Amino acid sequence: MKKYTIYFLLTVSFFSACTKKGVTAGGGTIPVPVPPVVVVDTNLYQFMPFPMGAAVGISLMKNNAKYSGVVTKEFNSITVENAMKFAALHPSETVYNWVDADYLVAYAQANGKRMHGHTLNWYASQPTWVTNYSGDSVAWEKMLKSHIQTVVSRYKGKLASWDVVNEYFNDDGTVRQSIWVKNLGPDYIARCFQYAHEADPDALLFYNDYGHEYSSAKRTAIGNLINSFKARKIPIHGIGMQFHTTTLQTEANIIAAINFAAATGLKVHISELDVRVNSNKVQGIVFTAAMAEQQADRYRQIVKAYNTVPKAQQFGITTWNVGDADSWVPSWQGAPDWPLPFDANYLRKPAYKAIIEGGK
Ligand code: G3I
Repeated sequence: MKKYTIYFLLTVSFFSACTKKGVTAGGGTIPVPVPPVVVVDTNLYQFMPFPMGAAVGISLMKNNAKYSGVVTKEFNSITVENAMKFAALHPSETVYNWVDADYLVAYAQANGKRMHGHTLNWYASQPTWVTNYSGDSVAWEKMLKSHIQTVVSRYKGKLASWDVVNEYFNDDGTVRQSIWVKNLGPDYIARCFQYAHEADPDALLFYNDYGHEYSSAKRTAIGNLINSFKARKIPIHGIGMQFHTTTLQTEANIIAAINFAAATGLKVHISELDVRVNSNKVQGIVFTAAMAEQQADRYRQIVKAYNTVPKAQQFGITTWNVGDADSWVPSWQGAPDWPLPFDANYLRKPAYKAIIEGGK
């Protein structure tokens, strides 16, 4: 049964606050009871039938009390937006910098939040010592394995799960030509999962990518990868669908992507959700109530479709950051946008309510 947090707010003190003056036939007054003002407050995650997460930025968590307050109140799962990427954690070959990641892991533990790691391997966000690495394939393999196992071991038992490899495929379903593929061959991806599993056999391991909703070729490639892993007994437990999406996307495409992921039988994570309202990159545009409603409709559809995934496979939904001002989207698009369920002041937008409605 859902839990509800209900605050009864009585605006003025006790009895006098609950009365107003009524006039009697005799001209005197007697108190007429006024119903108390009942405000039903929501903690997003308590209203959802599956974990509800946000990707968080370290400096906002440390320095913005409104931000950390919303994260603590509304979400029960945390992904680190950047602090666990290779460049952030491992800035030079012999140096690991754990400060930021440790801070968030400690926060998650102290506040009872599930924590999802992002990401052990990616073609991007690497330090220059990796992009310039000149070893042979044996040295590359050793470096890859050592990075994965050092990071996973450190957080063994503290993180529930990891995005092991991020964005391995191009949109046309071919394998992206990363430095990892170039130096280690395309099957290095399987070894990433094996290395992570060796370091923490209890962690759930995800393949994470974008574009499931608009590229059936990429979906098929991901499905084939998963089938090959299953056949070879490579440990993989989940599929992360980023869903950096837009109000222009169709509901049919969203449903197709979610159904495809569910059909793998793995856990399904909508791992980086945001919904752009200015896909045409119009400069000087303002965010209107109509745009907010269109965005809310899209959020509702996504959550509703996700809610049809079998319960045992629902890892949860994670929005990619919290408030509109924190989103990566405007700088990526080079245009204003408002992609998240909270506005720049961390007030709830219509999308917030729509997420709850979609989860009913
Ligand atoms: O670390 C430097 C910091 O020292 C400097 O002061 C600051 C000045 O701009 O830049 C900082 O690095 C930036 C970092 O975000 C932290 O803000 C990088 O330049 C910037 O490239 C980086 O962007 C991140 C991007 O991944 C690349 O790692 C975005 O915040 C993050 O939202 C985005 O997230 C990715 C997911 O990991 C994978 N899926 C797609 C998603 C969106 O691109």
